[in-house]
Amino acid sequence: MDRIKRIAGHFLPLGSAKAKVAVLGAAGGIGQPLSLLLKNSSLIGELSLYDVANTAGVACDLSHISTACKVKGYSGAGQLHDALRGCQMVVIPAGVPRKPGMTRDDLFNINAGIVAVLCEAIAAVCPDAWVLIISNPVNSTVPIAAEIFKRAGTYHPTRLFGVTTLDVVRAEAFIAELLGADPKDVSVPVVGGHAGATILPLLSQAKPQLQLEPPRAQALMARIQDAGTEVVNAKAGAGSATLSMAWAAARFAEACLRAMAGEGGVVECAYVASSLTSLPFFASPVRLGRSGVEEFLPLGPMNELEQRNYDTMLPELAGSIQKGVNFVQKRQ
Ligand code: NAD
Ligand code: LMR
Repeated sequence: MDRIKRIAGHFLPLGSAKAKVAVLGAAGGIGQPLSLLLKNSSLIGELSLYDVANTAGVACDLSHISTACKVKGYSGAGQLHDALRGCQMVVIPAGVPRKPGMTRDDLFNINAGIVAVLCEAIAAVCPDAWVLIISNPVNSTVPIAAEIFKRAGTYHPTRLFGVTTLDVVRAEAFIAELLGADPKDVSVPVVGGHAGATILPLLSQAKPQLQLEPPRAQALMARIQDAGTEVVNAKAGAGSATLSMAWAAARFAEACLRAMAGEGGVVECAYVASSLTSLPFFASPVRLGRSGVEEFLPLGPMNELEQRNYDTMLPELAGSIQKGVNFVQKRQ
């Protein structure tokens, strides 16, 4: 893995296998398009698709695509360990999505147990893998994963991520729309967590710079914070964001794989174990390297509106983190 060469814009490891990546929840609304996008990655040698059911069809379908990445499907708890064997990265979109009127925290009772079981298997089979958690409520499921790994003695805080890329992607899309710019030219940090007020887009640090009166800045911030609910309501009972989430997760997974392969200067926002604030977990821009998170980028200056949001968000995020920790402590 030491010698690297740039191929088609990516650093790939020379003389070593490409990554083996598992998607847990691969037959779901996010899992299927995410697996499709990952099948297209030149950094992945093998995709391991796991779900409680219906994975054979998804794997067979994807295996007919003429890219080099191999695809194999695994169905049911009896095949979970086989799915994880040899994986360097595990992406988890398993769990139930919201319906209109629900909060992400309303998913806790079902998804907490799902994430805990999957992380126990990761600890047993591929304890060094990078783990990317999509399942909601992310503010709590990431602390749950951390506690499960601690209990198993396999916790690598620099390699456990709550995927908050969709918040960044949305912020980029909405700002580009507002400015009439190409979204690829827009960047904006989104910090905190992944639910309502804990999603804090630092619009004052957006590039290109935004010149918005406070009420318009507040409206834009609220739209980014409520964008998940916008999709839940538009889908009217048929689930939450799947396609945009798959795109965002594929972007984050690809960033992790590039860093893993030795590319320098890879920066993305993610919800990680962090020393930036008084909280044990916090989303911020992080620099990724071969061993995972290598640097927390500073939060930077906040304007009055952002500082107010930051102050009110901290207790809510602290409560969600503690809820996850308590769940594992009470678990046999
Ligand atoms: P979905 O219901 O379409 O798919 C979930 C899949 O998980 C299903 O195929 C189901 O069979 C599978 N599953 C359930 N229990 C499982 C288990 N024990 N092991 C393996 N697989 C299991 O839901 P979706 O729309 O794909 O959403 C999945 C999760 O992602 C939800 O919790 C949702 O809230 C969350 N989400 C997060 C973000 C984010 O930004 N982090 C964005 C969108 C959705
Ligand atoms: C999102 O932001 O779209 C996801 O967290 C799903 C949801 O429930 O809003």
